[in-house]
Amino acid sequence: MNVLVAGGTGFIGSVLCAELADRGHEVTALSRTPDGDSLPDDVNVAIGDVGAYDSIAGTVAAHDAVVNLVALSPLFQPSGDKSHESVHLEGTRNLVRAAEEGDTQRFVQMSALSAHPHAETAYLRAKGRAEGVVKESSLEWTIVRPSVVFGDGGEFVEFTKTLTTPHVTALPDGGRTRFQPIWVGDLAPMLADAVEDDAHVGETYEIGGPEVLSLADVTELAYEAEGKSVTILPIPSALANVGLSAVGPVPFVPFGPDQARSLEIDNTVAENDISAFGVEDADLTTLSAHLGLEGNHSAFHEPGS
Ligand SMILES: NC(=O)c1ccc[n+]([C@@H]2O[C@H](COP(=O)([O-])OP(=O)(O)OC[C@H]3O[C@@H](n4cnc5c(N)ncnc54)[C@H](OP(=O)(O)O)[C@@H]3O)[C@@H](O)[C@H]2O)c1
Repeated sequence: MNVLVAGGTGFIGSVLCAELADRGHEVTALSRTPDGDSLPDDVNVAIGDVGAYDSIAGTVAAHDAVVNLVALSPLFQPSGDKSHESVHLEGTRNLVRAAEEGDTQRFVQMSALSAHPHAETAYLRAKGRAEGVVKESSLEWTIVRPSVVFGDGGEFVEFTKTLTTPHVTALPDGGRTRFQPIWVGDLAPMLADAVEDDAHVGETYEIGGPEVLSLADVTELAYEAEGKSVTILPIPSALANVGLSAVGPVPFVPFGPDQARSLEIDNTVAENDISAFGVEDADLTTLSAHLGLEGNHSAFHEPGS
């Protein structure tokens, strides 16, 4: 298959491009500034901005399948004229329109847990409305909604360290918000299956990793991997929101009310759709193992507990 990965030079995109190329597909990664350094030699690159239809239409139209992995991070407040609506909603509209007007049949859309047109943050609202655009299209679509994704080059663990300090740190409500992190190396084959397999057409999948971790758990793991301990002090979330929104977790880090709010929204799945890809929890990599801490952390919550 001839596959275009929009956002293919990013954290998840570069792993997916390698997976698709390994499976024998002709793969092109599209982004605004593709340098190809993070990609295997047999992956092509194309320049395009999903916000500018004319810059992507010709490239998209020539592909059998498109995977939309374009991102504007929800962890930091957007700067300049960037917005979640322009990148995630308008960008999806442009990709879908180009695909419908071209030869593309299949469209895999990366969304997020809790995405909804009336969700509480701009990121989740844009993702929710973008899902509607994809579902209303004439394309063979699949929507994937993962929890947070970790791996080399991912920003989740690094962001946790940006938010905190080693030894003693304060977190809203003691960092009780729950995540179900999934390793990028486990997620990419599922995305590749969604590209290849007719069985996934018209499906929306919620994907989580093998364990549920609180923000406090993730903070402890991140510092333990560096040989540091951390004691977490709870601060009321209302107070934290005011403080984080006003100054950011550390000076010069752009953090606003949406970012504070997103730290209060649980990011776990009710039913884990990994089974649709023939995968079970025992097959998946834990965050502890990725950080080199395997064996030390058997006490974390099972999914659903
Ligand atoms: N990482 C996670 O934990 C996580 C969790 C749930 C969902 N997701 C979703 O998964 C997808 C991939 O995330 P990621 O973490 O891999 O993101 P990422 O590392 O930030 O990569 C984003 C990619 O999008 C490209 N891009 C950004 N703006 C663009 C534009 N206007 N036009 C064309 N390309 C553009 C970037 O390249 P240029 O800057 O060169 O354009 C880059 O290739 C996103 O949809 C994200 O919302 C991620």
